[in-house]
Amino acid sequence: MTRRRVAILISGRGSNMVSLIEAASRPDFPAGIALVLSNRPDAAGLERAAAAGIATAVVDHKAHPTREDFEQAMEAELKAHDIAFICLAGFMRVLTDGFVERWSGRMINIHPSLLPLYRGTQTHRRALEDGVLVHGCTVHFVVPELDAGPIIAQAAVPVVPGDTADSLAARVIVQEHVLYPKALRMICDGTARLDNGRVAFTRGWNADGTLHSPG
Ligand code: GAR
Repeated sequence: MTRRRVAILISGRGSNMVSLIEAASRPDFPAGIALVLSNRPDAAGLERAAAAGIATAVVDHKAHPTREDFEQAMEAELKAHDIAFICLAGFMRVLTDGFVERWSGRMINIHPSLLPLYRGTQTHRRALEDGVLVHGCTVHFVVPELDAGPIIAQAAVPVVPGDTADSLAARVIVQEHVLYPKALRMICDGTARLDNGRVAFTRGWNADGTLHSPG
């Protein structure tokens, strides 16, 4: 089995990063985390990555005059670590179309909503305001349009009476930590790949797994 070399890009606490590192530490996982890169020197996830023995790098966006300049510095780090796939995990910088196109089919992101609902920020608060009874998270290929790429995997959670944005976020993040390693496995072992702007899957589906909320 070829283990693909993966970089995780973070800006903050890195709980999804930890779930990816843990999954990739298993010998049968088709990827190894070769680099954790942050645009913020103070991202708490950096220490967690270093503690797990993963190479870390900081490319501070504030130290670069333009987005292109910032991304060139990131590309240098990605090249130095021979990276094949990128996972965005709470990476809060908008990337240029050029960068996104260069990594097309090789860069994925996790977003805390059932896309295409609730692109952008404050997803849990907006879901509560709308009164939806099912919410969740999505892993998708990254395309130039924000939070709009082809969907690789989704997990749903119920919204329950009395939920606040925080309680809902806490329920969603548990599923993010399950879903992201699953999606990374699928793109690294070839089960899911980008094909003409859609995700092509090579495995069958269980069509009986309907979720009702209220259950
Ligand atoms: C996660 O909930 C992730 O889905 C979200 O940021 C959080 C990062 O947490 N990402 C986005 O909103 C991207 N649009 P983490 O640093 O603990 O993984």
